[in-house]
Amino acid sequence: MKIAIVFGTRPEAIKMAPIVKECEKRKLDFVTIVTAQHREMLDQKLEVFGIVPDYDLDIMQANQDLFYVTSSVINEMKPILMKEKPDVILVQGDTTTTFATSLAAFYLKIPVGHVEAGLRTWNKYNPFPEEINRQLTTRLADFHFAPTEWSKKNLLNEGVDESKIFITGNTVIDALLMIVDPNYKFEDKLLNEIDYKNRKVILLTSHRRENFGEPMRQTFSACRHLVETNSDVELIYPVHPNPNVQKMANEILQGVERIHLIEPLDYRPFVQLMNKAYLIMTDSGGVQEEAPTLGKPVLVLRKTTERPEAIEVGTAKLVGTDKDVIIEEAQKLLSDKSAYLEMSTKANPYGDGKAAERIVNIVLEKL
Ligand code: UD1
Ligand code: UDP
Repeated sequence: MKIAIVFGTRPEAIKMAPIVKECEKRKLDFVTIVTAQHREMLDQKLEVFGIVPDYDLDIMQANQDLFYVTSSVINEMKPILMKEKPDVILVQGDTTTTFATSLAAFYLKIPVGHVEAGLRTWNKYNPFPEEINRQLTTRLADFHFAPTEWSKKNLLNEGVDESKIFITGNTVIDALLMIVDPNYKFEDKLLNEIDYKNRKVILLTSHRRENFGEPMRQTFSACRHLVETNSDVELIYPVHPNPNVQKMANEILQGVERIHLIEPLDYRPFVQLMNKAYLIMTDSGGVQEEAPTLGKPVLVLRKTTERPEAIEVGTAKLVGTDKDVIIEEAQKLLSDKSAYLEMSTKANPYGDGKAAERIVNIVLEKL
């Protein structure tokens, strides 16, 4: 049996790496196909996990739009899938690579296994286009690897056959546990020299399409205010290379004392930075899942989230993108020790680090 593992962006690479490693370990017949919807950010992750893809579609263009990414993936995937004839294709999450690959697989009548299935906001435009990407991927998929009970329930409510849904945990926890190392020393001088014990380091990440423009302006203004009014706070922001994000970050955050705008980090230093941060503010999906394992409070800079589990457990809070609300919620965590402790001492709801093993077992059993 041949398995094709497909991914294209930073988060997919991180979350698919444990499955690639599991297939390598068991010496299975598999191929890795990367669309390279992301380039540098994908290559960073391939390197960390020592993955050399069998196929690289190399589609990324500067400031690409959704039409370009969708059509390139479908067209370029066709000859590879026709040549390789895999028995199953594994895709992950909610990117355009995920959806377009599932559609290409459907056109060729190849079964699809969807890793991280069943996440929902039920809001068509938030997150955009990810909510619809994952709903459409569900329609196209044959096996649904739900990370949690909640995501399984969503699939059942949509009429997905229960025998095709498997709760596995999220592979992001497998990846995190492979990489986390409390003794890791940053190579970067700035990251190495920050006094994490006596300073309150806020780690910021922000890149979502629906936050471009005013929501991102409000978020960044709130961050700037927090740094300017708390002399013990340092803010570190590895800025996503999307030109829309770069422009706003430079406009509002550049040149401010104790705000460090840096390049996207390799996974190893990023995990270490999460581990050393006081507080994480993010609109990222993956970071919401990773932070609870490291015991870090997360303020989610979005109007909706498809990851309510961490909010229910109490390690994350959905604060939206209004400047005043963000300032109020972050200030509480900076000044009120008990509010901080309340959020930093809960269990991680996303898995035990064995999701990839379960997924590969199921693929082998069911096919
Ligand atoms: C994509 C995904 C999003 C995911 C995010 C993770 C879609 C529609 N969006 O958003 O779901 O959360 O990745 O980061 O699938 N760029 C580079 N180098 C890189 C990567 C991106 O320069 O390594 C720049 C390019 O100008 C590129 C732009 O960012 O055109 C946008 O990349 P794209 O993948 O279309 O969207 P993201 O915002 O990264
Ligand atoms: N990440 C990283 N370096 C960075 C920022 C994030 O390695 O500079 C990792 C992070 O740990 C998480 C993943 O990238 O596993 C999240 O990717 P992103 O936020 O781009 O996408 P999302 O999860 O929102 O789809």
